[in-house]
Amino acid sequence: MNGGGGSSAGSAVTRAGAVRDALASITLLLGVAYQAIVEAANIVRQVATCARLQRGGRPMRLQDKVAIVTGAASGIGRSTAMLFAREGARLVLNDIDAQGLEALVLQMLKKRARTVAGNGR
Ligand SMILES: NC(=O)c1ccc[n+]([C@@H]2O[C@H](COP(=O)([O-])OP(=O)(O)OC[C@H]3O[C@@H](n4cnc5c(N)ncnc54)[C@H](O)[C@@H]3O)[C@@H](O)[C@H]2O)c1
Repeated sequence: MNGGGGSSAGSAVTRAGAVRDALASITLLLGVAYQAIVEAANIVRQVATCARLQRGGRPMRLQDKVAIVTGAASGIGRSTAMLFAREGARLVLNDIDAQGLEALVLQMLKKRARTVAGNGR
């Protein structure tokens, strides 16, 4: 009588072991896939950098950075904003001189600067 119960318990243990093994394999595979994706992203980034350098450019130092510049409509703030835009920064610009700020934003958009937001008084 016990033989049947023992066999069923044994097969349940075997199934549990198989499930555990399958989960371990899936976890391992996911880890490997994640690593592969990270490696691929690195390679794509390196190839893009090489291509840019081959075109005579150099890597932009503020790529993917966000900079907030106050007093951006003139003087030091304006020069800073222009320099940061050339280096690939996404800019949030502020000045109480709304007209001056608008002129700067228009000029930057013509030069295809990345996301520019202006805010007057
Ligand atoms: N230019 C220099 O050689 C020099 C040297 C040392 C210190 N500084 C100081 O650096 C600062 C900037 O100089 P600058 O020559 O670029 O002056 P600037 O007058 O050309 O530019 C200042 C900008 O700030 C804006 N502004 C003023 N108050 C503001 C506020 N509350 N919020 C937002 N924007 C505001 C103005 O509208 C203007 O566009 C000044 O405080 C200046 O005294 C300048």
